Amino acid sequence: MPTDVATETRTAIRTAFDRIAASTLTGADVAVREFALACGYSVAELASVPVAANLGLMCGHPLRFADLRPGEVVLDVGCGGGLDALLAASAGCRVIGCDLSPGMVERAEINLRQHRVRRPDLSAEFRVADLEALPFESASVDRVLSNNAFHYANLGRAFAEAYRVLKPGGRLAFCDLAWKDSPPEGWVGADDPAVNLAGVASVTEIGTLLRRQRFELGLAATERAVLPRGTRSDGHKGPTDADRLNRWVESSQGCCGVEPPPSLSRYHDTLAKVADRDDLRDRLATVLICATKPRA
Ligand SMILES: C[S@@+](CC[C@H](N)C(=O)[O-])C[C@H]1O[C@@H](n2cnc3c(N)ncnc32)[C@H](O)[C@@H]1O
Repeated sequence: MPTDVATETRTAIRTAFDRIAASTLTGADVAVREFALACGYSVAELASVPVAANLGLMCGHPLRFADLRPGEVVLDVGCGGGLDALLAASAGCRVIGCDLSPGMVERAEINLRQHRVRRPDLSAEFRVADLEALPFESASVDRVLSNNAFHYANLGRAFAEAYRVLKPGGRLAFCDLAWKDSPPEGWVGADDPAVNLAGVASVTEIGTLLRRQRFELGLAATERAVLPRGTRSDGHKGPTDADRLNRWVESSQGCCGVEPPPSLSRYHDTLAKVADRDDLRDRLATVLICATKPRA
């Protein structure tokens, strides 16, 4: 069963994602874009939000089964650059995105400001927060979303917090990596904190932890995990700022003196290497879960 995340591990995770947030990585990179498409995003969805919202950090597409309705309060935990949060806000939801990494929150805020130029009606905000200790009132949100973030935290506590903040009848819709069965014998994980697979649970453990929280499982599917292939030569050229990058991409000609983004991130690079080195491709799955907090 998942264990506690040590303080130094949490700090290392935050630092690793701060660095990714400050990098030049965006959905303008062919590999990042392809990765998002493989995870289920459509070309139209990706084109509808600022390109710097997509960092290729997802493992699926929870909005596909979250059944969002306009006006609902949606909390995206571990929101990264804000891709799912901005898509949910574009669908008319009142969205709060939160992330452990201040750099990610800053990137998401820049993306939001830019998106509001086209969609001034959007209701969204971003906050730095730990998904194990959410700074929100109990029974205050209609939907909790998460994409490839729960396994960086203690899953039991993450599900307990999602349950607490949901209104009765509210739903938790998330995608995360999971072991189909178990990790390889004696497996120690990757040494890049952004690829913190040590916290990944098995499909069975995830179901058990959700039921322990009294969630009612609706959709619970597993798919072959989308894992990157190949490696890159460089990546984190940052820091830069997402706002200038978005403008660079929109003008398609490097108007602001910003270099074009590199081809693949270190995150993808490490994930691809670890998956091949430790033969993880057939062992990892993506779980797609929609679970309801009972009304009574
Ligand atoms: C792999 S990224 C996924 C980002 C985003 N959901 C997406 O699909 O693009 C994982 C995110 O979870 C955040 N994260 C990790 N541990 C967290 C925690 N304990 N509380 C909140 N966010 C966390 C990281 O900072 C990072 O932005």
